[in-house]
Amino acid sequence: MQLESTHSQTTISVECEILPVFQTQDRESANHPYADILRKLKHTETFTGKLGQTAFVRFGGKDKAESVLFVGCGPKDEFTEEKARVAGGHTWSKLATEKTHLGAIKTSFFGDDHAAWIRAFAEGLVLNAYQFHKYLNTSKAEGKTVARGPSAKKCRFIFVSQTRELADQVRSDLEDVSVLYESVNLTRDWSNEPSNIGTPEFYAKEAQKLAKKYGLKCKLLNEAAAKREKMDLYLAVGQGSEREGYIVQLEYNPKGVKKPKTVCLVGKGITFDSGGISIKPSLRMEEMKHDMTGAATVMGAVVAAARLQLTTRVIAFIGMAENMPSGIATQPGNIIRTRSGKTVEIINTDAEGRLILADILDYAQDFKPDCVVDVATLTGAVGVALGKQCAAILGNDDELIADLVKRGAEKGERLWQLPLWDEYFEDMKTDHADMRNSCNDSNGGTIRGAIFLKQFIRKGVSWAHMDIASMANGLTSVSYLPKKGASGIYVRTLVDFIANYKG
Ligand code: BES
Ligand code: ZN
Ligand code: ZN
Repeated sequence: MQLESTHSQTTISVECEILPVFQTQDRESANHPYADILRKLKHTETFTGKLGQTAFVRFGGKDKAESVLFVGCGPKDEFTEEKARVAGGHTWSKLATEKTHLGAIKTSFFGDDHAAWIRAFAEGLVLNAYQFHKYLNTSKAEGKTVARGPSAKKCRFIFVSQTRELADQVRSDLEDVSVLYESVNLTRDWSNEPSNIGTPEFYAKEAQKLAKKYGLKCKLLNEAAAKREKMDLYLAVGQGSEREGYIVQLEYNPKGVKKPKTVCLVGKGITFDSGGISIKPSLRMEEMKHDMTGAATVMGAVVAAARLQLTTRVIAFIGMAENMPSGIATQPGNIIRTRSGKTVEIINTDAEGRLILADILDYAQDFKPDCVVDVATLTGAVGVALGKQCAAILGNDDELIADLVKRGAEKGERLWQLPLWDEYFEDMKTDHADMRNSCNDSNGGTIRGAIFLKQFIRKGVSWAHMDIASMANGLTSVSYLPKKGASGIYVRTLVDFIANYKG
C-alpha cells in the first residue's frame, strides 16, 4: 500500500472518495456535499455514522470520484487516536471487498489541527492491508484476490490537504507510518513463515541482510559460539533438533547523540515448539510455528528504530532454536548449568522459552544497558488469565512497566501488569538444583515463567518481561489487525517506548 500526500490545488482523479462521518447533525446540513445521501442512509438505518459502520456508494461518474465510501467514526467528542485507527481498519476492509485500488481522503474532515488522527487513521488502514500469500500458487492467489480484494501492494491511498504546508506535514507523518507498518509486516512475515523454511539459520541470515540494509551492527552466535559463552541452558533446548540454533545480536547506534541511553531487547525465537520430550498434543500444534514471535517483534522494533533514526541506542538479541524430541533431546530430570552459574532441573521440556531466555538475558546484561525488555510467547497460561485482549507484563521496575503500559495503551496494544512477588519462587524450588523450570501445578503459570526469568536478572538492572503468547496470532477483535495468522502487535509499542526512553 502506498500512502501519498497532496494539496487540493493538484487535480487528482480517484476511484473512491473516503468520507469519515461523525454521528452529528451537521453532516445533513445543506452545505455538506453528500447531505442527501447521508440523510437517506440514516433513514434506512443502514448507516448512521457509528464507529465500525461503512457505506459504499458507486456512481460510475467520469470526472469526479466514481464512488464514495462513508466511514462511521462515532460521536466527534468521543473520537480518539485508537478510534481513528479502528475507522482506518474498517476503511481498508470495505475498499478490499469493493475491489478499489485508489482512494482519497480530505484531511480537513478530521480538522486540520488533528495530525494525530490522520496518522492513526492511516495506520489502521495500512495495518489491515496485510496478506501472507507467499505460498499460494498463482491461480489460487488470484482466487483469493477476488475474495479478499485487490492485492494490498498495488493500492494507493491519497491524503488531500488544503494547503501545501499541511500536505508537507502529512507527507512526513505518512513516511513514519510507512516505516512502522513495514516493520510490523516484517514481524508478521517472520511469524507466519512455516518452520520448514523458517529455521533458526533462515532467520539469522534474514537478520544479517536486514542489518546490512539498515546500518545495524550484527553478530551471529552459532552453537559453537554459544558453547564458548557457556550458554548450556540455551543449547539444551535445541539439542534434540537437527537444525542448528543461532543467537543474533543486533546493535543500533544513534548518530550524533552524546551518551545515548541503551535499551536491550531480548526475543524468544523458538522456530517450532513441539514441546520436546514433553511433547504437546497434536491439536493446533501447527500454531507453534509462531513461537518465535517475540524474536520477530524485537526484530521489527530494532529495524524501525534504525529507520526512524531514534536517539536511543538499542541492542537486540534474538534467540533462535527449535524444540524437538529425538534420541539426544534434553530429557525431564536433566540438570543443566546456566551461563550465570546457577543450575536448573528441567521438569518439562515444553517450558523451553524461559530456558533460552535465561542464558540470553544473562548475556545481554554484560552490555550494561539502562534497561532490558524481553518479549516472548512464554505461556499458554497468559490466555487463561487475561484472554485475548491484552498481554501480560511483569518485572522488577514498576516505572519501566508503567511506561510500557502507557505507550501500549496509546497504540491500542494493551498490556496488563501481573505481580511478581518473590514468594512465587517457592514453587520453583527443587532438591536437586538451584531451581526447576516448571512445577506440576498450572495455576499462575505466567507468573511462574517470569519468576524463573527473574533469577537471572542481576541486582540493580531494570527489567520488564512481556508474555505475548495469547496475542501473537489469531486476534479477531481488532478491526485493523489480520484476523488470521500473526498480528504483529507490540512492535509499535516498543518503537514508541524506545523513541521516548529517558532512563
Ligand atoms: N510456546 C509455549 C507457550 C504457548 C502456548 C504459546 C500456547 C502460544 C500458545 C511454551 O513454550 C509452553 O509450552 N509453555 C508451557 C509451560 C508449562 C509446561 C509450564 C505452557 O504454557 O503450557
Ligand atoms: Zn513450550
Ligand atoms: Zn514455547
